[in-house]
Amino acid sequence: MTKKIAVLAGDGIGPEIVAEAVKVLQALKKDGLDIELEYGLIGGAAYDETGTPLPDETVAMSKSADAILLGAVGGYKWESLDISVRPEKGLLGIRSQLNLFANLRPAILYPQLADASTLKSEVVAGLDLMIVRELTGGIYFGQPRGVRTLDNGEKEGFNTLVYRESEIRRIGKVAFDIAQKRQGRLCSVDKANVLECTELWRETMTELASDYEDVELSHMYVDNAAMQLVRAPKQFDVMVTTNMFGDILSDCASMLTGSIGMLPSASLDEDGKGMYEPIHGSAPDIAGKNSANPLATILSASMMLRYTLDEPALADRVENAVSKVLDQGLRTADIYSEGMTKVGTSEMGDAVVAAL
Ligand code: IPM
Ligand code: MG
Repeated sequence: MTKKIAVLAGDGIGPEIVAEAVKVLQALKKDGLDIELEYGLIGGAAYDETGTPLPDETVAMSKSADAILLGAVGGYKWESLDISVRPEKGLLGIRSQLNLFANLRPAILYPQLADASTLKSEVVAGLDLMIVRELTGGIYFGQPRGVRTLDNGEKEGFNTLVYRESEIRRIGKVAFDIAQKRQGRLCSVDKANVLECTELWRETMTELASDYEDVELSHMYVDNAAMQLVRAPKQFDVMVTTNMFGDILSDCASMLTGSIGMLPSASLDEDGKGMYEPIHGSAPDIAGKNSANPLATILSASMMLRYTLDEPALADRVENAVSKVLDQGLRTADIYSEGMTKVGTSEMGDAVVAAL
């Protein structure tokens, strides 16, 4: 049966990088991949056209689709808008409305890019780490939130970090299941020495561990985890953490792989339906210049093939094609080093299609 893919390009470099991932999917379509693409608005682009960063039509289309491919949202143009209609609300809204609570962010170093990392190549060579980030709870969504004016006229901003046991357990299960299929090591990251909410996080993860005797669970405070990620990242197999800690640690992990332009992600619901997006933002400073790296989005499409479309062989083909263009020495500006061939966004996409 034909699978429907909702394509939400968004803002900034979003349309450029999504166009390259679409090229790859179209090429696979010619080889028999049975998909149909539909296009929808999200973020600032949606706000400009409809007055909201997440139009109802986009939610409806995404709900009825089998998978969603997303570019990025946000930009200078919308920064002064009220927070309730900012582009980021569109992204958070779709994650929440579709219940995409499990965000998988693999950080894999392509050996060809060992020199592109700011860390010594022996520290990062062979890196293969999976960050599992809780995506629909925690401080991003907790109530109450806002800015209020106190009796003395001073303003006070506040947000709430809140997790229910059931939310911790369901993201924990996803992470344990993944660890089981990998090297069997799971590190749960929290701030249990200060925050009660993450003390519950730690206890719940520990309880879950008894159902997974083949997985070795460890715990780490988030500050130490940030340090360990740049000190000795290969000690980690799978990490599981809260929404905000995962946001921060995954940006940190991306630089181990050479560039944030290389990291894909999958955001899954309870049934494995997913939204696929690069972990980077909309990079308004380089938008429209054909210089962004489309590989994170192309690799996100490959995660879609693997996790939602059940096409592991095609996913392997895309990943091998990416590896091949790197072997050929092709580099976008973010991963460029001397002696390599600098290419633009669309040339990189074309090269991946040719290498398929
Ligand atoms: C990410 C991004 C988003 C987040 C922003 C754009 C809202 O940084 O996907 O990591 O904080 O989740
Ligand atoms: Mg982020």
